[in-house]
Amino acid sequence: MTSKPTARAARLGTPIPQELLDAGERMTRAELQDLQLDRLRSTLRHAYENVELYRTKFDEAGVKPDDCRTLDDLARFPFTTKADLRDTYPFGMFAVPMSQVRRVHASSGTTGRPTVVGYTENDLSMWADMVARSIRAAGGRPGHKVHISYGYGLFTGGLGAHYGAERAGCTVIPASGGMTARQVQIIQDFQPEIIMVTPSYMLTLLDEFERQGVDPRTSSLRVGIFGAEPWTEGMRREIEDRMDIHAVDIYGLSEVIGPGVAAECAESKDGLHIWEDHFYPEVVDPVTGETMADGEAGELVFTSLTKEALPIIRYRTRDLTRLLPGTARPGFRRMEKVTGRSDDMIILRGVNVFPSQIEEIVLRAPGVAPHFQLQLTRRGRMDHMTVRVEARTGATPGDRDAAAARIARGVKDGVGVTVEVEIVEPDTLKRSTGKIRRIADLREQ
Ligand code: DLL
Repeated sequence: MTSKPTARAARLGTPIPQELLDAGERMTRAELQDLQLDRLRSTLRHAYENVELYRTKFDEAGVKPDDCRTLDDLARFPFTTKADLRDTYPFGMFAVPMSQVRRVHASSGTTGRPTVVGYTENDLSMWADMVARSIRAAGGRPGHKVHISYGYGLFTGGLGAHYGAERAGCTVIPASGGMTARQVQIIQDFQPEIIMVTPSYMLTLLDEFERQGVDPRTSSLRVGIFGAEPWTEGMRREIEDRMDIHAVDIYGLSEVIGPGVAAECAESKDGLHIWEDHFYPEVVDPVTGETMADGEAGELVFTSLTKEALPIIRYRTRDLTRLLPGTARPGFRRMEKVTGRSDDMIILRGVNVFPSQIEEIVLRAPGVAPHFQLQLTRRGRMDHMTVRVEARTGATPGDRDAAAARIARGVKDGVGVTVEVEIVEPDTLKRSTGKIRRIADLREQ
């Protein structure tokens, strides 16, 4: 059996060769800020002149594009929310004639209308550049084969990764999501170095490798670029150990562009550098909307700096994180791994609980698999949470009891709530083929 510890160890900590950096990545912070201000002012003008909703909102707030004289002035402009996109469904926030829109994507949205986003030729090209930059940051190089298991279609994951990988000079294997057994076969046969997939679907693929009797550590894969859902350091360790790959994070959202708004560098794995030459980040207090200083945790807000079809001004992402100074790409700030979305936060008897907190605890417990679900029920007038976790194959009843007790104690000590832990049989929880849903809310039934 061959494993690849040397390949992994060698790449870790090795900085990217300077000649592989693009012009944006070489900018100093001061140069970047000048560029940002220029681009911000023209984006505000473009939005105001071409989108009725922005014109109305700016007028109501008493601001004009020219009032933005410094980057800090952006805080005077109104926020944009998902509701604004829904209210103008499908194309009401497009700032160019439809004849210039080359593609649309849409987010499924669990309730109500989907949100629709559009791209001009230039937007698609910039997007491909940003995904290519993210792939290079992850260690991808021209000539690498990239297996893409993000879903293709209206979701931005598949096509976004696809054109970015082509732009990076890689060979694309457009697998999309699903047909898990076949994906494993294709990986075995085509020998890709890189996989782009949600971390939860990566776990499904890992299980399938093992089911087929193949040690995932022997596969050709060297790098996994994981995003579209929150995942923890515990999940990184789990995937890196089981596959012997580098697992790095990629972040994005359709309203801002899709994947490739921010990405982690393989050499530092210390949060995601935000590609600030195209996407301007702020962090605000999720309740008051007040701008927060770098380093303080709050809700991430984005303003696009170059987008033509759908300029987005101060978009409330609902994602919770902090802005930190750049490291591997000193010109750009980093965002900490997203701990969760304010919408995914469960308030259990007054305590805020994020699925990612439970993930960290479950992944540290021996005897259980990294598959879990959070079930919410009502008992009397009290909300109740059951953490349902799969046993690892071969775990004894004693192992299961110990894992249940350990997880329950971990949640009590670490999160501050009492939960019930149910250890279920291996292979019984529904597997993800894309974005996973951790919460089963049975309270209204
Ligand atoms: O999920 C775009 C994407 C595709 C990103 C593939 C990365 C890889 P949406 O479907 O619009 O777009 O969902 C965006 O997903 O606001 C976050 O809540 C969540 N999300 C995306 N990436 C991450 C990540 C795509 N790396 C929403 N960590 C965002 C945590 C993420 N959450």
